[in-house]
Parts: sequence; C-alpha cells; structure tokens
Amino acid sequence: MNFYNVKLVLSVLIIFISIKIDAKRNKNKLPSFLNICQRNDPHLNDCIKKSVENLRPLLRKGIPEFDIPSCEPLHIPEVVIDQGAGPLSIKSSYKDIQVSGPTDFTLKSIRIDLEKNRVRIKLWLPKLEVMCQYELQGKILMMPISGSGESHGNYSNIDVTITMQGQQIKKGDDVYFNIKDFVVDFNIGYAEIKLDNLFNGDKELGEAMNLFLNDNWKQVSSEIKPVLEDTIASIFKKFANKIFHKFPLDVLLPQ
Ligand SMILES: *[C@@H]1O[C@H](CO)[C@@H](O)[C@H](O)[C@H]1NC(C)=O
Repeated sequence: MNFYNVKLVLSVLIIFISIKIDAKRNKNKLPSFLNICQRNDPHLNDCIKKSVENLRPLLRKGIPEFDIPSCEPLHIPEVVIDQGAGPLSIKSSYKDIQVSGPTDFTLKSIRIDLEKNRVRIKLWLPKLEVMCQYELQGKILMMPISGSGESHGNYSNIDVTITMQGQQIKKGDDVYFNIKDFVVDFNIGYAEIKLDNLFNGDKELGEAMNLFLNDNWKQVSSEIKPVLEDTIASIFKKFANKIFHKFPLDVLLPQ
C-alpha cells in the first residue's frame, strides 16, 4: 500500500469514527441557527442562500458547537510558497496571517445538484485586508529580492467561485454528506501591497520594489494565487464538513 492509499484509508476511517461518535450524540437535535430547507422546496437554492446568510453573524463570532473559530479576522497560521521557475523564482513564507473582511461577502448564487452531490456558490467580497509576517528570497524578473518583516495587503472587488463535490456515506440507517473536494477560485479586481523591511531595510530599494510589485500586482498575485486558493479551500472544507458530519442528510435537508 503506498502513501496515498494509507492517507486515503486513514481519512475514510477518521470520517467514519467521527460520524460514529457524533451519531451517539443528539444527531437529530439541530441548533436553532441552522435554517432548514425542505429537499423538494421548488425554491431550494433561495432557501439555502438564506441559511448561509443566517450563518454570517456566527461565522464572525465563531460557532463553538461546531468547533468553528471566528472567521473575522480569519487566521491562517502559515503559507509557504516555493516558486521554482518562470518570471518569479521566489521562496517565501507568510506567518500569522490575519485576513479581515471574509464575512462581508455578498452571496450571488447557490446552485445545488443533489444527483451529482455538487454545490456551487458564487460570492463577491468588497475588500480583504491581509496582514502577516513575511520572509522571502529570490528573483523577480531577474531582479534579486529579499526581505523579512511585516506585510500589508488590501485586495478589493473579489469574485469567488466555490465548488464542493461531495459523496453520500451510509452509516447504519443514516446517510451523511461528506465533502471530498472543495475548490476555491477567486478573481481579484484590485490589489495594493506593502512589504516592510525589504533588502534589510534599505529604504530606496524597498520603495522601488514596492512600487514595482504594485505596478505588476496582477502578475505577482497570479503566481501565488493557486496556493492561497488551496489554503483557503482546505480551511472551509474542514468547517463545512464539521456541520455535515454532525447531522444526517435527512435532518439537514429533510425529504
Ligand atoms: C489598506 O487599507 C487600510 C485601511 O483602509 C490602510 O490604512 C492601509 O494603509 C492600506 N494598506 C495598503 C498597503 O494599501
């Protein structure tokens, strides 16, 4: 059995164990903040939209019942990006990332395909403010770049598409929903970034590089976008599964 198989077996086991433990708790007792929709509701998508809207203030505060921490700001411990080839060859790490603004989303659409176990959400974010400690070293369009310190970024007019591909898992008489793939794709309208203490604090070089980065933010952010999308996807996949693993599908989405 190779590493991938071991990982797969382990994660399936963990899902089953957590479902089993949860099933022993009050699996049919729903917290009042979950707005329940009937599966045959002709306006199911609108109903789910309302349910997600209802969760917004809870996402701000955190949902201890679901072990979901506050998402305002959203805290990401660390992201490491090793950009090997191309116009950017940079090794960078970002620690203690605080993202403000993720719960200010506007839901544009939610589409649920129960046959295919697929959910697609489109939302829009007016602004995300990101602060972190960065460390980077490498080359950007042949120019050397290095530095470590505080980084501040403002991103605005962001379109986000989330695609969740799930599966239904039978456990006893109950069927649970489990998200297998959670894919996030975002499109940033505008970005402003500032890296403090570039080139060991050399003011002129640092300012020139910040100017350059901001003039070319589209290229720069497209290089690091996939890693950010994956990181955010794995955080929200965990949150969503915490809800889905706790209650059978028939309780969350009654027939
Ligand atoms: C980001 O926005 C905040 C608040 O509007 C502002 O204080 C800060 O200077 C901005 N940072 C950058 C890098 O534009």
